[in-house]
Amino acid sequence: MLRVQVICFFYNEETLARLFIQHYAWADEILAVVSRSTDRTRECLEAAPNVRVMDFEFPAGMDDRIKTDTVNALLAEPSPFDWKIVVDADEFIWPQSNVRAQDYLASVPELVTVLEARMRNVFRHNSERDLDLDQPPVVQRRFGDPDYRSPENIMYQKPIVIRSGRNICLDLGNHRQAGGTFDHAFWFEGAHWQNADPSFAVVRRVRDRRDRQSEANLSGGYGVQHHRVTEKQIIALCAARRNCPQIISSELKKMKPFPSITQLTSGETSQLPEHEDIQGWNSDDQIFDELVELVAPKTIIEVGSWKGRSAMHFAQATERFATDIICVDTWLGGFDHVFGSGSENDRLLDSVGSPRLYHQFIRNFKKSRHAQRIYPIQNTSINGARILNHHKISAEIIYIDGSHEYADVHDDMCAFWPLVALGGIMFGDDVGFPGVGPAVMRFTIERDLKFIVVRNNFWVIKK
Ligand SMILES: C[S@@+](CC[C@H](N)C(=O)[O-])C[C@H]1O[C@@H](n2cnc3c(N)ncnc32)[C@H](O)[C@@H]1O
Repeated sequence: MLRVQVICFFYNEETLARLFIQHYAWADEILAVVSRSTDRTRECLEAAPNVRVMDFEFPAGMDDRIKTDTVNALLAEPSPFDWKIVVDADEFIWPQSNVRAQDYLASVPELVTVLEARMRNVFRHNSERDLDLDQPPVVQRRFGDPDYRSPENIMYQKPIVIRSGRNICLDLGNHRQAGGTFDHAFWFEGAHWQNADPSFAVVRRVRDRRDRQSEANLSGGYGVQHHRVTEKQIIALCAARRNCPQIISSELKKMKPFPSITQLTSGETSQLPEHEDIQGWNSDDQIFDELVELVAPKTIIEVGSWKGRSAMHFAQATERFATDIICVDTWLGGFDHVFGSGSENDRLLDSVGSPRLYHQFIRNFKKSRHAQRIYPIQNTSINGARILNHHKISAEIIYIDGSHEYADVHDDMCAFWPLVALGGIMFGDDVGFPGVGPAVMRFTIERDLKFIVVRNNFWVIKK
């Protein structure tokens, strides 16, 4: 599986560090090179599950030459990562086509070793709210200069997405590279947040940048944008840019912090079954299409996916919304599958007891055009809910179709209800099963909710 590391230096970046870990939650590792700070930068970073902190001190203030040498040493280090991305704390980048970075990079030909990030400066627009530091940053500041080659933006076109082990070196400020070429059509988009909000831009740029420049930087002319900038200039710039055009779509999706099927299957796949077998139950019912039309979901969570028939139905129904579909299943079968009758039971496990069903599920999507939107979480439903909750993921539709035992159905409903977005829907099938209907009754009575039954089979609850 393709792995990506993001490398970034931090000093007194409490505000941006919190946004940074939200944006780069999809990275396999954020290597945070942290200088001793007077705020909570280190603590904020350490709280994120994918951050590794490396302590680092400049001998006499910010020195771009030392920083570049350190970055190049980190790039040259052998590592388990296929790609390394070098950014500053105010640089948020994403693939050109807004798919998960690992999926996009998996599609880049071997010969391509460096991708440019085309960042544009963003500013707080009149219509935008105060920053929420616990939400992804990019959609919070969507206005700026649309031309990425304008004088304001040109210095933020940086060759910073780098294939590992190819002797690529960066130059001062990461503006140029040596060792790769740009004769290709792959790039990342990006937002440059130096002036994204006066609430942090002034302090950050004046106290923590300008006043921290080393003698070597000042005499060598490095980091010049920080040499003379004043508080007044920053405030005036932010004020002058409060009516820029929109340059970032409000629909830009948060990248999922776990791999889609496209990413999982970029490696060795010989263990997958040769043939498609996508049998399911009630999976072709029109309720899937009806609910999709009703809520136009950005994300769907399916609890219990089996071979993927209902997930495939969701995928087909949501093509025009480009909905992400998260499938939570142990792929070990439920109690009824293990002990029930039917030909499927013989085929749950392979010769060493691992779930054959999982391989079949992956096989069924692998060659479909939906693979990059399907995110399998191979775990119990309850752990799946915890994982998704940890990543603050919610969904407009949650389909509960895991275990059909009474206590399990009730537990699944309780665990996933908090993840249903406001205005969203939780539903399930087999309401006539002895474990299902009573569990739905109990759940709705406990919360004073209503459910409806559709075609004598599906229960539906609206939030
Ligand atoms: C009825 S099948 C799902 C069918 C699928 N939705 C379809 O229509 O094609 C139930 C699935 O739930 C899974 N399952 C049962 N109990 C589970 C649990 N506690 N956690 C996660 N998955 C579970 C089983 O492995 C099985 O694949």
